[in-house]
Amino acid sequence: MDMIKESDLKVLFSEDSIQKAVRALGDKLNIEYGDDELYMICVLKGSVMFMVDLSKHLKMPLKMEFIRLSSYGSAFVSTGKVRAVDISLPDLNGKNVLVIEDIVDTGHTAKFLVDFINLNFKPKTFKFCSLLDKKCKREVEIDPDYFCFEVDDKFLVGYGLDYDGYYRNLPYIGYVE
Ligand code: IMP
Ligand code: MG
Repeated sequence: MDMIKESDLKVLFSEDSIQKAVRALGDKLNIEYGDDELYMICVLKGSVMFMVDLSKHLKMPLKMEFIRLSSYGSAFVSTGKVRAVDISLPDLNGKNVLVIEDIVDTGHTAKFLVDFINLNFKPKTFKFCSLLDKKCKREVEIDPDYFCFEVDDKFLVGYGLDYDGYYRNLPYIGYVE
């Protein structure tokens, strides 16, 4: 597959619809957590846009952590093998923990992370939040507690999602046919 041209992208979610959905999720989380301290854990690199935008709507005392996982595979297909590039985290025992992902596809990355946190900590609450949920591709039994949009089996780019490292900066989410 050659370089994708931005002019070849079809818009799936506009900047406006993403921002509206992120704000609505923020409102929901504010009700859910109230004034309780929250640890957001951003899974780099794909979740960075979502993490930053969502965090701006949150009103509780908040700490942001960043970890980096990578799944082996080609630019389009995930293999189910997950590697922790940097998973250094503070003590999460007794804390409200909310993982922030860009997309749950096969579910292997989410499962790896959920298992890692449950093995190492006993959080007060532990929830998984993903901007996108590609349910039709799931290989392991795991569902995000919160998500903004369910998506079909299309390869998506933009708003953090990349093709070969490119297009994370787009303010919208698009796909190639
Ligand atoms: P999973 O382990 O198969 O659930 O895959 C999760 C990771 O695969 C995500 O965090 C993304 O980095 C990547 N991914 C899955 N689907 C897409 C896509 O449509 N576009 C870009 N990256 C994707
Ligand atoms: Mg990711």
